[in-house]
Amino acid sequence: MYTVPNLKEYLSDPIQQVADLLTALHEEAGAVQTESDWKVFRDRWMARKGGILAQVNDLWLRAAPPERKRDAGKRVNDLKARVEEIVEATLQGIRTGVPAARADSDRLDITLPGIQRAIGAEHPIIKTMNEVVAVFRNLGYSVEEGPEIETDYYNFEALNFPPNHPARDTQDTLFIANQRTKPPREQLLLRTHTSPVQIRTMEKMEPPIRIVIPGKVYRNDPPDASHSPMFHQIEGLAVDTNITFGDLKGTLDHAMKAFFGSSVKTSFRPSFFPFTEPSAELLVSCFVCGGSGKRSTEPCRPCKQTGWIETLGCGMVDPNVFEFVKDNGYDPSKVSGFAFGMGADRIALLKYGVDDLQLFFQNDVRFLRQFA
Ligand code: DAH
Repeated sequence: MYTVPNLKEYLSDPIQQVADLLTALHEEAGAVQTESDWKVFRDRWMARKGGILAQVNDLWLRAAPPERKRDAGKRVNDLKARVEEIVEATLQGIRTGVPAARADSDRLDITLPGIQRAIGAEHPIIKTMNEVVAVFRNLGYSVEEGPEIETDYYNFEALNFPPNHPARDTQDTLFIANQRTKPPREQLLLRTHTSPVQIRTMEKMEPPIRIVIPGKVYRNDPPDASHSPMFHQIEGLAVDTNITFGDLKGTLDHAMKAFFGSSVKTSFRPSFFPFTEPSAELLVSCFVCGGSGKRSTEPCRPCKQTGWIETLGCGMVDPNVFEFVKDNGYDPSKVSGFAFGMGADRIALLKYGVDDLQLFFQNDVRFLRQFA
């Protein structure tokens, strides 16, 4: 049975004594089962005469030397409050059937709803890429990825950009420093497009293949409302026997309708890329103004009043490209294919009606939250 010790040599910090007292309090509270138990318990701790608190008052406070009185007074007051609280809770405990000692010492209530952490959401560009990829997955395409630090060979040479060819100038390449001692093909750079993954995949997979390649690409473009030194592309490649330009048109027309809505029309315009021949640019009819170039009375901005929006570059794989992977079954006299590459950021801008590309990369949650 607990008794209040004498703090004779008044200890400067009676932590142990306070802890012993509280342990006894909890133990005794835990043993209380009926209201009459409780009355005994209450009186033992709180009776004005001879109750434990009264003894504490006498032995710990009154007996304290003058210079310790203030400190002791505060401690004893805290203890009183604590004892009163537990005594009261013990009564509530027997009335409600929840033991106070447990309710007090075990404050973890597993029935309370947990702390909800906000779940992140897909970034609008990632979301756009996933949606485009999903369209092609449904056509049986699989997803491939490749490194963002790439060699000159994969980024240029095997895509039919010979060394020093002016077509390289269009790519505003960011080169990795200190590569000059390496053979030109092995020199590293930040990939300027996802097209190198075409070669990497053809090296490891024999035809037929149908792949899409989402990823980040880099160019030496200062950031502005429509440019960023880092941006995103989705590349596609289909190689098989007898693939024709008609297959390219049909596939991309279907993909644009699946992505932008079944009412869009597509149009192909001649273009040039070193790794495709012939090459084309694909336009979709403006899904904002419906192709009229006007929005009610206002000029339509997304299509710059032309009624058409450029979405990607494409073409039939140039036989010179197959020459680099000929040994893996890509004999240009036997297989043919088409490829395409689109800028995911531009598509996300158009789709969500955002007018500044930088908003996608500043990652201000007030902006991003709108897409969650
Ligand atoms: N790689 C090109 C670029 O970034 C885009 C492109 C055009 C990819 C035509 C292709 C293609 O696969 O066939 O400018």
